[in-house]
Amino acid sequence: MSKVLVLNGPNLGRLGSREPDIYGAVDYDGLVKITSSKAAELGLEVEVRQTDSESELIAWLYESVDNGYDVILNPAAFTHYSYAVRDAAVQVTKVGKRLIEVHLSNPHTREEFRHTSVISGVATGVIAGFGVNSYTLALTALTN
Ligand code: DQA
Repeated sequence: MSKVLVLNGPNLGRLGSREPDIYGAVDYDGLVKITSSKAAELGLEVEVRQTDSESELIAWLYESVDNGYDVILNPAAFTHYSYAVRDAAVQVTKVGKRLIEVHLSNPHTREEFRHTSVISGVATGVIAGFGVNSYTLALTALTN
């Protein structure tokens, strides 16, 4: 069974109470449950994690590189400025694995600073704007 790490960046642990008009009513535990049950349905082994720390997120990306895991990454605010996360993310595709950038909201419909992603240029693909379904769509994409 191929393994996928689903990595979530800063503030995503506050889902449900954080701007539900933008990010939806599903809390972080709900996101973990929905993502895990879709992965099981698709026959994928999945581990869902969240961190507010840039260094921890980078360590998890290298864990994927070293073990050959595909990655679904919601870099949250790091999307818009972290060259350090980008530099680690690019290694995932360099070892032949896939990295899908996901967002709950569609950043392009929001403030101008969210229109730039420093991650998209090194991602295999990007899925944004479908709430928690962005994650289940990304899992489906990984089965193809
Ligand atoms: C987000 C969009 C980012 O702009 C924001 O900083 C987040 C969440 C999303 O999932 O829509 O924290 O990545």
